[in-house]
Amino acid sequence: LMQRIARDLIDSYDEELELEIEDRNVDEAGAPVGVDKAARQAYFKELFRLQGELVKLQDWVQHSKQKVVILFEGRDAAGKGGVIKRITQRLNPRVARVAALPAPNDRERTQWYFQRYVAHLPAAGEMVLFDRSWYNRAGVERVMGFCSDAEYEEFFRSAPEFERMLVRSGITLIKYWFSITDEEQHMRFLGRIHDPLKQWKLSPMDLESRRRWEEYTKAKEIMLERTHIAEAPWWVVQAVDKKKARLNCITHLLGQLPYQEVPHAPVVLPPRVRNADYLRQPV
Ligand code: ADP
Ligand code: AMP
Ligand code: MLT
Repeated sequence: LMQRIARDLIDSYDEELELEIEDRNVDEAGAPVGVDKAARQAYFKELFRLQGELVKLQDWVQHSKQKVVILFEGRDAAGKGGVIKRITQRLNPRVARVAALPAPNDRERTQWYFQRYVAHLPAAGEMVLFDRSWYNRAGVERVMGFCSDAEYEEFFRSAPEFERMLVRSGITLIKYWFSITDEEQHMRFLGRIHDPLKQWKLSPMDLESRRRWEEYTKAKEIMLERTHIAEAPWWVVQAVDKKKARLNCITHLLGQLPYQEVPHAPVVLPPRVRNADYLRQPV
């Protein structure tokens, strides 16, 4: 049995290794590329420790009926998707969900701007991770001209009020901005161009965002300044080092929530029902 448990543990190690191979941090044989072995081991060890804490957090969210929203913003290829994957990797998808909404359709475009996001907010005992969020209006929509000046201004009047309403209704709202440099984004886009597993991540919008780096910088500064409120401040994650960014972000997240370990009675596997007739029926 212990051997079997050890094998399962190695399987879960491999799962993280797969993600690392996808990131091209290790080659197909699992040998690290550009990272020394000790650093990689330290990363895995800390990641697994944090994922264990996330399981406790999940238990607490479920049992004390918390409602948690964590939103991730940042430039294209900043690593939002990567940290979201590590957070949810060991969790129950019914407790920890990801909301990554596509561009609004024609019908949604006529609705109240926040309406389609509201549909994804958590009920008691749930946490929702937004991979991009209502902040699209302050970022991509502003820079690419998908909204009018009036809609943009209205967003800044509404967003802080909207978020205060969420918080007053009992939702914990945590907002992260993933920060990368111009050179780092350039490198990551090149990586996506040359990697068949990653090409899907490179949208026409991403290429345009390279051209409009400066405009995005300006939009980001305005956004962070105008929506940094006491009820829901922005936390900036330095994300050029992907691994540090993940560990820092998860550590910070755990520190934002007063979770405690939920006591459980030890689980014992029930004995098999014996001599049940239906078990002898030929099928
Ligand atoms: P992602 O970076 O999430 O893979 P894209 O780069 O295609 O996706 O788009 C970036 C963001 O811009 C997405 O959140 C998407 O919903 C939004 N977006 C794309 N096109 C439009 C549009 N025409 N109007 C409003 N938002 C859009
Ligand atoms: P500005 O404040 O006009 O210097 O522009 C800041 C950013 O918003 C730039 O990226 C512009 O391309 C963009 N922008 C300017 N006007 C509009 C508009 N009417 N609708 C959408 N985006 C705009
Ligand atoms: C990221 O790396 O930040 C996400 O995958 C979003 C994107 O496609 O840029």
